[in-house]
Amino acid sequence: MDPAGHRSLGALVRRHRTALGLTQEELAEAAGISARSLSDMERGITRTARRHTTAALADALRLSGEARRAFEDTARGRPAAAPAVPDAGALVGRDADLAAALGLLRTGGARLLTITGAGGVGKTSLATALVAAAGGDFADGAAFVPLADVRDPALVLPAVVEALGLRTGGPPADALAAHLADRDLLLVLDNMEQLTDAAPAVAELVARCPALRTVVTSRVALRVTPERELPLGPLALPVGSEPSPAAALFLERCAVVRPGGGPGPRTGRRSRRSAAASTGCRSRSSSPRPGCACSRPRSCSPGSPAGSPC
Ligand SMILES: Nc1ncnc2c1ncn2[C@@H]1O[C@H](COP(=O)(O)OP(=O)(O)O)[C@@H](O)[C@H]1O
Ligand SMILES: [Mg+2]
Repeated sequence: MDPAGHRSLGALVRRHRTALGLTQEELAEAAGISARSLSDMERGITRTARRHTTAALADALRLSGEARRAFEDTARGRPAAAPAVPDAGALVGRDADLAAALGLLRTGGARLLTITGAGGVGKTSLATALVAAAGGDFADGAAFVPLADVRDPALVLPAVVEALGLRTGGPPADALAAHLADRDLLLVLDNMEQLTDAAPAVAELVARCPALRTVVTSRVALRVTPERELPLGPLALPVGSEPSPAAALFLERCAVVRPGGGPGPRTGRRSRRSAAASTGCRSRSSSPRPGCACSRPRSCSPGSPAGSPC
């Protein structure tokens, strides 16, 4: 997909043609165009097609429904719907997790990857960094579907339909399967923990769309095939007086909360916060607080009970 949101006509034609087991000559003959024209199209020399040629090719490729509409949009040079993906801010201390996620997607064959972990630990941050790092690997780019405000599992697929800008009157599962069947897309479903009853529907979508890669963020795993889970723990804690990612992030956020300064004078409450930064936010028992990534300096304090929301 180019920066204006146009998909490659050549790649699309080739993908549909090979799926049908046709040679270029056979497809050209079926569509009533020259083999040379088709070859130019597949090599990207011709990037759009006339209305008549588009229809003839779509017929010869036996396309219908959403798949045909997507093909026609591409052939006529109309931008594909490109849902907004949030900006990936600077990710602190997650190189190993990002590499693990990339590995699972690129070489591990993960088609449904769930990033799990406590609230605030950095699941969404990692997912957006993943899109920034890997979105370009996908011919059709990436789509980010925020689900934090969705409460009804039945509304998950409709939310995806809406995010992709699809027009459909039928069942969302069928519309999505038709639209995504031939798409090389990275789909991110962000914040699914309250929607795990929709897991079978997501798994079915993945099964129906062989080129689709789906990344889910959730406090809990979806527990469906073919899910692969990437559990995300708190950021690394300091060893001795060495700086740690958790402390770096905490101090960075303190600077945002209190522009122009660090955690503030070393008195009273502020001194406790400074202590939290240097220790990486530990509980009174000196063990790391589960789920605390030290990313919320407004509300996090080292004395909070372990496991409490940060
Ligand atoms: N590794 C990190 N680097 C930079 N910011 C982070 C990191 N982890 C978390 N944050 C910040 O902490 C907050 C919560 O992170 P988020 O990714 O939304 O957590 P989750 O999705 O697990 O609830 C956000 O403001 C986010 O920017
Ligand atoms: Mg999140």
